[in-house]
Amino acid sequence: MASDLVLGVDSSTQSTKAVLVDAGTGEVVAHQSAPHPPGTSVDPRAWLDAFDRATDGLLPRASALAVGGQQHGMVALDASGEPVHDAILWNDTRSSHEARDLIAELGGPAACAEAVGSVLVASFTSTKLRWLRDHEPEAAARVHEVLLPHDYLSRHVTGGEAFTDRGDASGTGYFSTADDDWRPDLAEAAIGHAVSLPRIVGPAEVAARTSTGLVVAAGTGDNMAAALALDVQPGDVVVSIGTSGVASSISATRIADGTGTVTGFADATGRFLPMATTMNAARILDLQCALLGVDHDELGRLALQAPPGANGLTLLPYYAGERTPNRPDATGTWAGLTSSTTREDLARAAFEALLCSLADAVDLLVGLTGDPVERILMVGGAASNPAVHALAPAILGAPVTVPAPGEYVALGAARQAAWALSGSATPPTWAATDAATHTAEPTPLVREAYARLRDRTSDWT
Ligand code: XUL
Repeated sequence: MASDLVLGVDSSTQSTKAVLVDAGTGEVVAHQSAPHPPGTSVDPRAWLDAFDRATDGLLPRASALAVGGQQHGMVALDASGEPVHDAILWNDTRSSHEARDLIAELGGPAACAEAVGSVLVASFTSTKLRWLRDHEPEAAARVHEVLLPHDYLSRHVTGGEAFTDRGDASGTGYFSTADDDWRPDLAEAAIGHAVSLPRIVGPAEVAARTSTGLVVAAGTGDNMAAALALDVQPGDVVVSIGTSGVASSISATRIADGTGTVTGFADATGRFLPMATTMNAARILDLQCALLGVDHDELGRLALQAPPGANGLTLLPYYAGERTPNRPDATGTWAGLTSSTTREDLARAAFEALLCSLADAVDLLVGLTGDPVERILMVGGAASNPAVHALAPAILGAPVTVPAPGEYVALGAARQAAWALSGSATPPTWAATDAATHTAEPTPLVREAYARLRDRTSDWT
């Protein structure tokens, strides 16, 4: 007998991706996508259109649905459910001062981490609410309900009451990871009046059932969904190269890092997902491709023709400001350009910058959790580039396992949907993803040169 089909959706920064999956085996039977408008603040109704296009023809075939989405984005709605302002996304740094103010109001970084699991940076939803209060008071006064991107899309399908999960909720700045519940007082303090927040639904729960009988699960943040798809276990570190760069791991215990280097998110299974996040990842290679007039394959070929260290050329890739380390006003910095610098050096330096920045994130994560690393998994578009296969183990100083390319956020959402549909206590067991493990001689000099430039620029804006 054929199994049910489940639909997993990833509403990411750049596009909506939908995968229709066999609930029994995890096999993808169809997939579609639709682009999002560019920018760090976007009319969230554009995501509804993209959702409709990406799921067109797939949704009627599914018995269950879950939506994964970019974390943190502020979807502020009036009493009739219409946006009062563009959604302000995780990678918009306008609220960095507000983050500092809210941390102070909570009693400082350690108290902030204790209250909400993380020290706030401009990515967190609460800082965006405070920005709205102070810069768009008329719009702020009309805010009745605040949702995250994935909640907004789930309700687009179900109508009625909004719901979310603890994973995505833990990126708002008004959710207690200790109590596993909202801190509505903190949402109120951020915007200046009480707002309605979505109901929090458990990892395996059926959140809603539509009139057509479609089961809708809680959905979750994109990083939590990817961890669910990859079946990440303690000892694994996942490095993801997307619009953001992420190093994350799974922990049975709650993290509250008062230094603010690691965010202590909840995951999509009832555990925790400590994470160090960078704001510049895929864009480093995208920009380098544009500057050199090549595609990603050619950029990788060029990079592999230059020696480790790119003949002394080093890039600090904080093009869009940075979050790890917390330098919201930073820009990119090149050092070591000479009249002998080649296109190959320029390509190599871009890959080395990306991987050194991710290596910093991994070190911060592992330094905080203290958990021994048994395996490094690398996912995201750039993870399939042969230059990454060669350079990542050399720069990280450890073997790097690259799962076959896939839409892991959408697949994690699909696995959550299958879990809710099954009514079982544990997520369905799907075949392990094919993966290749890459090894290389470590090149510590590359990281040392990068660290010198990073530390030398620490007081630049
Ligand atoms: C995590 C974060 C990013 C977004 C990207 O804290 O801000 O990884 O989730 O979509």
